[in-house]
Amino acid sequence: MKVTIVGAGNVGSSCAEYILIKEIVDEIVLLDIKDGFAEGKALDLTQTTSTLGFKSKVIGVTNDYKSSSNSDIVVITSGIPRKPGMTREELIGINAGIVKSVSENLLMYSPDAIIIVVSNPMDTMTYLVNKSFDISKNRVIGMGGILDSSRFKTYISLATNFSQHDIDAMVIGGHGDTTMIPLTSISKCDNKLLSEIVSNDTLQKISSDTMVGGATLTKLLGTSAWYAPGASVSYLVNAIVNDTKEILPCSVYLEGEYNSEDLCIGVPVIIGKNGFEEVVNLDINKNEIEMFEKSVKAVKQTNLALDGLI
Ligand code: LAC
Repeated sequence: MKVTIVGAGNVGSSCAEYILIKEIVDEIVLLDIKDGFAEGKALDLTQTTSTLGFKSKVIGVTNDYKSSSNSDIVVITSGIPRKPGMTREELIGINAGIVKSVSENLLMYSPDAIIIVVSNPMDTMTYLVNKSFDISKNRVIGMGGILDSSRFKTYISLATNFSQHDIDAMVIGGHGDTTMIPLTSISKCDNKLLSEIVSNDTLQKISSDTMVGGATLTKLLGTSAWYAPGASVSYLVNAIVNDTKEILPCSVYLEGEYNSEDLCIGVPVIIGKNGFEEVVNLDINKNEIEMFEKSVKAVKQTNLALDGLI
């Protein structure tokens, strides 16, 4: 199996690192527009082969899409990350054109690849890829919900002392500070409802900390996060490569599911070797349904900025 990651910045290279270490695929191509940068990252990563003991290979290329030929999965992390104080939505002007031309190049050499979109604003970029090319919606997956859910589990664990491994929790909706929906009503710690373990105030705090989880890190780091985003992409790549049929929250094109259509937004989907196989309906409460409706409106509003590009 072969994966191409476009963008050798923090997220792209962390993604390559985890896919390598976990030996998820045989070959990784890291591609970047900056002369020699991906080559440097790939060489540095290759020099961890004997100490970390993995068999997969990584090569780095500067803008050479031919090297990405016949990839099974392509990951788009290109574009600029946000700076402290910026929203993900503010990146659209620069990132939309980049994401469109990157996907065009990738599809030229890997017409059957599954496309994972990571660039922000992620839901809108996933929609852009869906609308710009004649490819099955099942092969275009936006990665945001896995990351947001891992942040949600972190904050639940910090508040309750339950191990993250015993926490069952999911974030759906848009991958934005005000659009994501941590599903507090159905979250569980060791099979007990979270809402029965913590106070309402704590529940609210976990939820709001999760929603601004990315912004908190951007403020601390001066740029957006990379370890958890990279790990979340590698988790999704693994689910596709190993056809795990796991239910994961991903941004996908909706055609009536969750009462919504003509947008990409985070919902639980079954992931397998063909991409996302189906959207899973969750038993969420009235408040969460209302929040989802608001999130749909906000994501659709951001999508309007794609006018002229799709
Ligand atoms: C974040 C960026 C990658 O949430 O969207 O950290």
